[in-house]
Amino acid sequence: MKNIFIAFLSIAFLATSCQSEKKPEKEKIVIGGKKKEKSPEFVLGEKLFKGKGNCYSCHRLDKKSVGPSVNDIMKIYKEQNGDIIGFLRQKKDPIVDPDNYAVMKTNFVRLEKFSDDELKAIELYMNEVTK
Ligand code: HEC
Repeated sequence: MKNIFIAFLSIAFLATSCQSEKKPEKEKIVIGGKKKEKSPEFVLGEKLFKGKGNCYSCHRLDKKSVGPSVNDIMKIYKEQNGDIIGFLRQKKDPIVDPDNYAVMKTNFVRLEKFSDDELKAIELYMNEVTK
């Protein structure tokens, strides 16, 4: 009788512990009114843009702060088929706001330590948030 009771308890325990093990919902972003799952590259790009890269402190998504907004940057880069990674690697001249290039230049020392994949993730993030 005792054994049956213990068996019953463990079954009940297993059943509830399975239930509570909900899968975490994947984070979504809204693009053009549609929800889209964040790709791993997007998540990395966002993390770098707001964290290690410190880009967000000067670049808001849709309004100018210290630097131009991500929207404005991406609009010009798309129109002119610009090369963001080339710019971040100091191989391309500024095309958005050359008068304030000196302020942006202060980031290049830090950016030298970023891998190509990290820069690609930042570019993808900037691209996706403005679509
Ligand atoms: C201290 C403030 C500051 C920070 C931090 C900063 N930026 Fe900028 N950024 C600027 C300013 C000011 C401009 C406008 C000058 C210019 O166009 O080069 C600019 C311009 C740009 C441009 C357009 C360049 C062009 O062609 O004119 C890109 C792309 C850019 N930033 C990306 C980034 C990324 C990515 C980061 C993070 C790694 C970052 N910025 C961090 C201030 C900043």
